[in-house]
Amino acid sequence: MVSENRLSLQSLIQPIFIDERIKDPKAIESMPGQFRQSLLTIAEEAGKLEDLGVPAVLLFGLPEHKDESGSQAYDPHGVVQEAVRRIKEATGLVVITDLCLCEYTSHGHCGLVRGQEVLNDETLPLLGEAAISQAEAGADIVAPSGMMDGMVGAIRAALDLEGYIDTLILSYSAKYASTFYGPFREAAESSFAFGDRKSYQMDPANAAEALWETQLDLEEGADMVMVKPALPYLDILRSVKDRFGVPTAAYQVSGEYSMIMAAAKMGWLNENAAFLESLLSINRAGADMIITYWAEEYARLNA
Ligand code: PBG
Repeated sequence: MVSENRLSLQSLIQPIFIDERIKDPKAIESMPGQFRQSLLTIAEEAGKLEDLGVPAVLLFGLPEHKDESGSQAYDPHGVVQEAVRRIKEATGLVVITDLCLCEYTSHGHCGLVRGQEVLNDETLPLLGEAAISQAEAGADIVAPSGMMDGMVGAIRAALDLEGYIDTLILSYSAKYASTFYGPFREAAESSFAFGDRKSYQMDPANAAEALWETQLDLEEGADMVMVKPALPYLDILRSVKDRFGVPTAAYQVSGEYSMIMAAAKMGWLNENAAFLESLLSINRAGADMIITYWAEEYARLNA
């Protein structure tokens, strides 16, 4: 009764990968317990999550074809758009769509590139197109994750122009250039062909910059903001929540998940206790919502 904070299933969001090239669910080796779903299995999987009481999902797509400009990201019949339709038909889940080019570009970067350079401003209209196609498919919330400057403003303007005034934006506002995304890049096949993401993602040494980035996103119309990764950036989470007081999400990323799973497999950590403690600490640091690959497991434990 004297606990100051309590973890609730109501605040957890389960990420799901949907692979256009498969029929049956496929295990993700770098993330034990996680699977890629197919367009044939996604409705059933979503129904299972809904029955367990998971309130929301965050979708990532693996397209059949990638190209220089990531065109499957904004194809009205792309893999994510089709997955949204199927989930919305089958369930009442809140559907959040990751909005980025990196899973769809042949070079793996989050924007258009010229030579070795990622082109910020040229990428913005494509993000607007992607947002419209996701909203049209039925997404409740779009979540731009590419850290392009001006992306939230461009997406808000594009959505409003098409009449999607009630589609919310959850911005990955303080997203660090983190090594903890490693397992995700295998899961989503979004490794880059050259360079790194340090020209658009944040330097782990910086804290004030996170507040700047978050403020800009809010001024551009973000409804919710995010700190990512979670556990190595709890100080950032606390200051973002204290400074702005807006709905704040934290992303317990693939590397955070896989670290615990790997240690648990070795018998060095207790899986359930380690997840519960880390999720509680993220909640304590100010997260209103937590995106975690462990959401389904949490729901099952509490069923
Ligand atoms: C795409 C994106 C990434 C993640 C979410 N969206 C990878 C990256 O930026 O390299 C990482 C999620 C995770 O590690 O769980 N921009």
